[in-house]
This record gives sequence, C-alpha cells and structure tokens, in this order.
Amino acid sequence: MIKIGVLVSGSGTNLQSIIDASFRGEVDGEVAIVISNNASAFALTRAEDKGIPTRVVSHKGFPDRRRFDMELVKVLNGFNVDLVALAGFMRVLTPEFLEHFPGRVMNIHPALLPSFPGLGVRQKAIDHGVRFSGCTVHFVDQGVDTGPIIIQATVPVYPDDREEQLQERILRLEHKIYPKAIQLFAQGRLKIEGRKVFIDGLKKDEDQCMINPPLHI
Ligand code: GRF
Repeated sequence: MIKIGVLVSGSGTNLQSIIDASFRGEVDGEVAIVISNNASAFALTRAEDKGIPTRVVSHKGFPDRRRFDMELVKVLNGFNVDLVALAGFMRVLTPEFLEHFPGRVMNIHPALLPSFPGLGVRQKAIDHGVRFSGCTVHFVDQGVDTGPIIIQATVPVYPDDREEQLQERILRLEHKIYPKAIQLFAQGRLKIEGRKVFIDGLKKDEDQCMINPPLHI
C-alpha cells in the first residue's frame, strides 16, 4: 500500500477519482494527505468528507517559491508520502521540491502532450482544428508539462465544440487514467528511462486505432 499526497487548487474531481479508486481497491494505496494552496478549494471538502487529512499551504505566505515548496515537502514527509500526485495544482514546482521526490511526482494534463502544454488548452485545441485531443498523465520534471509520459487517452474534437463540451469529454477520461497510472506506479510496473516510461507486462496492440471522422461516413 503506497501513501499518496495529492496537491490541489480547485474543484478536485481528479482527487475524487483517486480516492474512489483506492476505496474500491483499484489502487494499492491510500490518499494520506491533501494539500491545497487555496483555502476555498472544493477539493478540501471532498477529502474531509472521506476523513482524509488536509492542509492549506498558501503560496502567498512565503517570500519565494523555494520556501513555499519546502513547506510542502515538510508536510508531505510528515505523512511519509511515497507518491505526489498533482491534481489541478496551479503552481509550478521548483527543482528543489523535485529533488525530494525523484521519479515520484505525477501530473495530469488535459491535452495530448507534447501538443498544447500550459493553460487554456481545450480552447486552443478546438481553435487549432485538431481531430483528436485527450489527456496525459506524466511524471513531472523541471519544465511545464514536459515530463516522461505514462498514459494518454484520446477523445474526438469537433469544429463546433464548445470548450465546456470538450472539457467534459476529456475529464471523463482523466478520471479513468489517473487512478490507473497511480496503480501502475503502486505495482512497481513503471520504469523511467530518459524520456520514456516502460511499463512492465505491456503487450503491443497493432490494431488499436481511432479515426475521426470515421471511414464509414
Ligand atoms: C483537470 O482538467 C486537470 O487535467 C488539470 O486541471 C484540472 C483539474 O480539475 N491539470 P479537478 O480539480 O481535478 O476537477
């Protein structure tokens, strides 16, 4: 059973999916602590409802990013966290933070990286006219949304999509792939080699594909 520390800033639907998966026994781990930099994040209520310890650590209370991050490290270490999962955490972590958890920090991003890193990415995907977008769980490195990719899921994008529509389509898959990525980590099946993440026991499927628009139209 691994101990997971989840960092949040907002609504916490991904946090909820991780908690629910661990309660169902689909993740060999437990959420040991939820930390928010925002005192009014609904994610905190979600954790409290399940009896999970929470802390608010506001970045505004620290003179620089490094000292904010060191406070996060202190809290996470206080709960003997094995894995740090960023779930809608709106701060970029410093190299000093990452040194404390090498290969043990994950993030979820609502696009198919390396396309559309950063913010506002669903609208950017629609505006670009792509036929697919999706979501990515990756290990965190020093860049923004640049770390080694663990799992991705695709959804179709349509030219007349509204941002909220695409957001919902992607979010449904986020809630499936984040717990899965964490379970692969908990099972010790992930090996990082440079940019690549090798998954123990993964078999290739040469026929798996999605085509949008489909060929039969
Ligand atoms: C998600 O779309 C996630 O991909 C991004 O931030 C959002 C967080 O949503 N990193 P929630 O707080 O988990 O509902």
